[in-house]
Amino acid sequence: MTPEKIHVVFVCLGNICRSPVAEGTFHHLVEKKGLESHFQIDSAGTSAWHIGQSANKRSIKVAQRHGIKLTSLARQFTPQDFNKFDYIIAMDRSNYQDIIRLSQTKKDKTKVEMMRKWDNLPYEDFPGDVPDPYYGGNEGFENVQNILINCCSGFLDHLIKTHKL
Ligand code: 4NP
Repeated sequence: MTPEKIHVVFVCLGNICRSPVAEGTFHHLVEKKGLESHFQIDSAGTSAWHIGQSANKRSIKVAQRHGIKLTSLARQFTPQDFNKFDYIIAMDRSNYQDIIRLSQTKKDKTKVEMMRKWDNLPYEDFPGDVPDPYYGGNEGFENVQNILINCCSGFLDHLIKTHKL
């Protein structure tokens, strides 16, 4: 862990739809503010199902339309990640529970937050969750992208204030 950097990892189930979008979107917003040197940004999945895979084609396409590049390759979240990251951001309640199950200390647990904590929109069908778009239509991917632009922006504002960047 590079001590001077803020280490952030976004976590979903497969690490091919939501968390790669969160990673790419957060990175894009950080770059726009010229704050790259302050951050180490990553994503991971709670499952091993898609290890090594690029983001889902539909996630990549929607992100591109927003000027956001998705470059991540899927990996599984491991207990060692608690030592490597300062902020562990879960996309939904099930991801949150799966991450907490791997935690060993109180400090580990305090690092885990829900992505929609920083949403400035009212919750709709999935209060508190970034809904999983994998089995649905293209509109689900657009919805995820829009939610994540809001949440990543709110999260970055929070970090700028907290760390006085
Ligand atoms: P993600 O979406 O957790 O946002 O990457 C999913 C990707 C794959 C599967 C489920 C959700 N799957 O069942 O393979």
